[in-house]
Amino acid sequence: MNNLVAFCLVSLLYQIQFSQSKLTTPPLPISPTPSYSQLKWQRREIIMFFHFGMNTFTDSEWGTGEESPSLFNPTNLDTNQWMEAAVEAGVSLVILVAKHHDGFCLWPTQYTDHSVKWSPWREGKGDVLKDFVDAARARGIDAGIYLSPWDRHERTYGREVEYNEYYLAQLHEILTRYGSVQEIWFDGAKGKNSTNMTYHFQEWFQTVKQLQPSINIFSDAGPDIRWVGDEAGSAGSTCWSTVNRTHLKIGDASLEDYLNTGDPHGTDWVPPECDVSIRPGWFWHKNEAAKSLIQLLDIYYESVGRNCVLLINVPPNSTGLVSEADITRMKEFHQAIQTIFSIDMAKGSETKASSEKGGTTGGFGASNVIDGNEDTYWAPEQRDGGHGQGHWIELCRADVNTPFNVVRIQEAIQMGQRIKEYEVFVDGIVMVNGTTVGHKRLHRLNWPVFGRVIRVWIKESWGPPLLSEVGLHFDPFRKG
Ligand SMILES: *[C@@H]1O[C@H](CO)[C@@H](O)[C@H](O)[C@H]1NC(C)=O
Ligand SMILES: *[C@@H]1O[C@H](CO)[C@@H](O)[C@H](O)[C@H]1NC(C)=O
Ligand SMILES: *[C@@H]1O[C@H](CO)[C@@H](O)[C@H](O)[C@H]1NC(C)=O
Ligand SMILES: *[C@@H]1O[C@H](CO)[C@@H](O)[C@H](O)[C@H]1NC(C)=O
Ligand SMILES: *[C@@H]1O[C@H](CO)[C@@H](O)[C@H](O)[C@H]1NC(C)=O
Repeated sequence: MNNLVAFCLVSLLYQIQFSQSKLTTPPLPISPTPSYSQLKWQRREIIMFFHFGMNTFTDSEWGTGEESPSLFNPTNLDTNQWMEAAVEAGVSLVILVAKHHDGFCLWPTQYTDHSVKWSPWREGKGDVLKDFVDAARARGIDAGIYLSPWDRHERTYGREVEYNEYYLAQLHEILTRYGSVQEIWFDGAKGKNSTNMTYHFQEWFQTVKQLQPSINIFSDAGPDIRWVGDEAGSAGSTCWSTVNRTHLKIGDASLEDYLNTGDPHGTDWVPPECDVSIRPGWFWHKNEAAKSLIQLLDIYYESVGRNCVLLINVPPNSTGLVSEADITRMKEFHQAIQTIFSIDMAKGSETKASSEKGGTTGGFGASNVIDGNEDTYWAPEQRDGGHGQGHWIELCRADVNTPFNVVRIQEAIQMGQRIKEYEVFVDGIVMVNGTTVGHKRLHRLNWPVFGRVIRVWIKESWGPPLLSEVGLHFDPFRKG
């Protein structure tokens, strides 16, 4: 009898404990979703490009390929100094142009004489690519590489098999000699008189993945990251991370609008990257200067603030150093972003939602959107049929004496991009409306607002919307 009582007691206690520790299951993801490497890339938000090469010494943007390697002679090349620019800018990934259209190689390749090996720089013993990745790693920064398919020097260019072999051999060199590479950049540029040149992108991509398992491949058509369709750093105000890869073609200008906005019905996760230069040109020119801080902030809002990663180019000069003025501008840019976003006027708000999966303590409550953690999110109850209409979340601010003029909304994109249309109300008045959200959506308001109750109303989404963060900020750089 005693044993039976003891048994019942133990099983009762077990049941109580079990019921208390039982978790609400997360909702199902909606395909397509990002890979590990794509998610890591997206959260970098700003990355940096370094255009440096023969053009730096000939004051051009596109070399002819006829330049003599003897022209390449930076007197004080110091990639550690380049990384200072990256550190000041707070970036975690830097991409080097290892070869531009002129075909001059910044590493001592074994497949052509058109490289640093035949230049006076360090008596032909230098390797810019090695210096670059070493300097990056020493600062805890990841490295990426751009290798131009168009090559105006290489004599085999135009002969399909021979040139594709040449290009692949160089890909092997740069992806096996320099350790882990996190991004590789391809474009579809071709000479006007070489339309017969077919690039074997599929073989190239397969080789890249074979040699570098965690790499992201960028091109007009992905497979991992797509071009945004312009070089102004501006994504569509509707911007899906999804597209149909089969619909894309590298180097097809008629697809620029599709690249800019993505495809709500897209079956592949291929998020956009916005490449833009801090200066008018991609290469350094004596008479060009950096964009203003306000211009850079505008670019930030239209790229990172529209679900993209911003790839900003900072070109080293012919001494082999990044201009102090450019470093200063990148530092100002980074500090301005910190000034705006390090203070969140939504913090400490009381939160409410149309529903919360598993209730307030189920792990998917509304308060997740103000916890500063992109891994946690608010999930509403899934309704029959999985409708994504009429869900909302509300923040009631504790302090209404601090105004805001920027609204930040983030989706839990690890579960797929879902939101198709939404509105933001402040004290019952519509202040903002939008279509897509994605990783991060930033809205600038025309004037500072002192409202108390902020409601994000999801008018339409694929399935239940999942919000990871909502923030309210003040941008003092905003004019007017
Ligand atoms: C084709 O390009 C090469 C190399 O840039 C140049 O030398 C040649 O003149 C061009 N041919 C035509 C027909 O434009
Ligand atoms: C491209 O190929 C066509 C057909 O083979 C040929 O007639 C043409 O001359 C080629 N053009 C160039 C620039 O090689
Ligand atoms: C992309 O694929 C989906 C699913 O097959 C289809 O509904 C959609 O129309 C496609 N988009 C384009 C632009 O073809
Ligand atoms: C390149 O930038 C460095 C650092 O600002 C500067 O000392 C050097 O004079 C510049 N070189 C040229 C050619 O402008
Ligand atoms: C969204 O806001 C813009 C102004 O920012 C306005 O022109 C437009 O009519 C609004 N759309 C809807 C559906 O409310």
